Amino acid sequence: MMIQTIRSKFHQRFGGEPLMVRSPGRVNLIGEHTDYNEGYVLPASIDRAVIFAIAPRNNDQCRMYSADLNQVFETRLGSLEKSEMRWPNYLLGVVDQLLKAGAALKGFDVVFGGDIPIAAGLSSSAAIEGGLAFALNEIFNLHIDKLTLVKLAQKAENEFVGVHCGIMDQFINLFGKEHRLLLLDCRSLEFEYVPFERNDLRIVLCDTQVKRELASSEYNVRRQQCETGVKLLQKHGGCIRSLRDVSLNMLERHRLEFDPIVYKRCEYVVRENARVLEACNDLKRGDFAEFGRKMFESHAGLRDDYQVSSSELDLLVEIASQAHGVLGARMMGAGFGGCTINVVEESHVQEFSRIVSDEYCKRLGGYVKLYITNIKPGTAALK
Ligand code: GLA
Repeated sequence: MMIQTIRSKFHQRFGGEPLMVRSPGRVNLIGEHTDYNEGYVLPASIDRAVIFAIAPRNNDQCRMYSADLNQVFETRLGSLEKSEMRWPNYLLGVVDQLLKAGAALKGFDVVFGGDIPIAAGLSSSAAIEGGLAFALNEIFNLHIDKLTLVKLAQKAENEFVGVHCGIMDQFINLFGKEHRLLLLDCRSLEFEYVPFERNDLRIVLCDTQVKRELASSEYNVRRQQCETGVKLLQKHGGCIRSLRDVSLNMLERHRLEFDPIVYKRCEYVVRENARVLEACNDLKRGDFAEFGRKMFESHAGLRDDYQVSSSELDLLVEIASQAHGVLGARMMGAGFGGCTINVVEESHVQEFSRIVSDEYCKRLGGYVKLYITNIKPGTAALK
């Protein structure tokens, strides 16, 4: 349906036959705020996506149309500048990076739109960046390998959008696989697909619909706090490049030298990294109950030590922790709003939805949106 709509909008606006690309959003089961600390993450690409219809032009004109916002943006390759409309920046950043990498680009026409809720922590921005990078690589036969596209899409967000995000979102966007989680080592970029298959379990997202106003500024603050911790430990010698190289013992030994806030941030990251690896072992053993417990622990760390949660997210996790059939729940993504991710027994999903909606409304007077998600492939061209 969505695919047909995007394609026909392309026909109406630009004419001709476009390449169609599907670029998914993502969930992250565990491993939050670890990617930029060279740690581990466990994301998956999902059934919500951005669809692109795109075709090359013979001059340097770039014409973009956001079907969801019904807005047009036009520019030329030689004069890329940040736009106050904001959404074009996710696209322009990618074009900018490709040009910087020396790619032989020309102008293009693109229509895009989809069903990933914006600012909900499902990485709609990485879906736009990864999707466009993939699409331009295809239509101009650039032969750029996927990992290079990932890095380029991440840099687009860092430089053009100004969020110093890690690599998780762009990585899973391009490397995601159906029915699989992806365990990524954000230092070596080695990865492993981990099955998440139990027919009686569902991944349910609860969206607070609180837009993450603070997220981008506080995000950069958290990054700096982690770097401060690393610098402090580096003074004591040893090979410490990031919090990835730090153990709890090491942290404890130097506790008194730390600003207490910086200490809490670092402690969370060190614990979360260990948790991701243990959680993967739980999955491999088929111990979903233990896996779920680690999700709750992760949330507690994000709430109390890393302090990127919010009262809405905390309430959702608290409700989930008391509901039947919920194995694990935590806030997901950068934080301060957006969604919680819940692993729920299929037979309890309906009851869970009802309890969450009722309790949330009763206690916060708000309305929570629920999405049941499935794990789908990463960015790919559509036939
Ligand atoms: C955002 C960033 C990611 C990651 C998460 C937190 O989604 O884009 O790189 O840091 O926050 O885990």
